[in-house]
Amino acid sequence: MNKITAISDMQKDFIDQVFELTSEVSKKWPNLEKVGSGKTICLLFWEPSTRTKLSFEHAAKMLGFNVLDFSPEHSSLKKGESFEDTIKTLLAMKVDGFVIRHPEDNISQKIESLLPDNVFYINAGDGNHAHPTQGMLDVYTMKEKFNDLKELKVTILGDVNHSRVVPSQIELLKKYSCLDINYLGPKSLISDKFSPSLSSTSENCLADRDILFILRIQKERFRDSDSINESDFINEFQVNNKFLEKTGFDGFIMHPGPMNIDAEITNDIANNDKSLILRQVENGLYLRTALLSLIA
Ligand code: CP
Repeated sequence: MNKITAISDMQKDFIDQVFELTSEVSKKWPNLEKVGSGKTICLLFWEPSTRTKLSFEHAAKMLGFNVLDFSPEHSSLKKGESFEDTIKTLLAMKVDGFVIRHPEDNISQKIESLLPDNVFYINAGDGNHAHPTQGMLDVYTMKEKFNDLKELKVTILGDVNHSRVVPSQIELLKKYSCLDINYLGPKSLISDKFSPSLSSTSENCLADRDILFILRIQKERFRDSDSINESDFINEFQVNNKFLEKTGFDGFIMHPGPMNIDAEITNDIANNDKSLILRQVENGLYLRTALLSLIA
């Protein structure tokens, strides 16, 4: 397998292999075999990124790849070149693989159709369709703490509707037989297809949950019909000490990043002993290194 578009296209055996290699990479880092030597990878990010882009770049360089950083803003796209012609141009420059983030849902299918069999591709986030490596690094981080995920209780809080992380994470949790997933947040951010959901907090409503996975309000993906009252959101759903006391939550805190401190989470909660947020970032580096090693 050398095209990573969505979790639904991936066999569990392959993901097990990625997780095993991620663990090996974490132990060996930074002494890695230069499996990318002589190969060129191109990073194309149509949207801002810190974690995904730089962890792929860091991983690729540590594996010996030559890395090209394509910036749409400074490319011939600005002179009217099409997306298709851009990819064909880069293929003619002997690029061996692509990591692409793009605002369009399902652009991965178009990209796959443009690439020859021997060229690898990783979807680094397309619209609010999928973010498979984020899903993998999140579930890997949960497995580090719980190993068997069958009994795991996960609550996803916040802007579920506009998240591309959520579909990838749910699909992957299901592959590991974790079925106890619920949602917490205002109705305007959680559509009926995400069920069961709570639209307000109550005493001890999260007392039995193991993971609270917090999402920022992703305004950049709001449509005209979407709206949110931010101060109401903060009053009811901001994860702070008062929230933890009321809901009885005593499990692990996760967030895919970037965080909006003092909106969906406070700084002290983001940095407390139960927060796995920076562990997620570190595991993202190891996991992307492992994935590149396997597919390149
Ligand atoms: N979680 C995530 O995709 O972060 P970046 O946007 O910083 O890559």
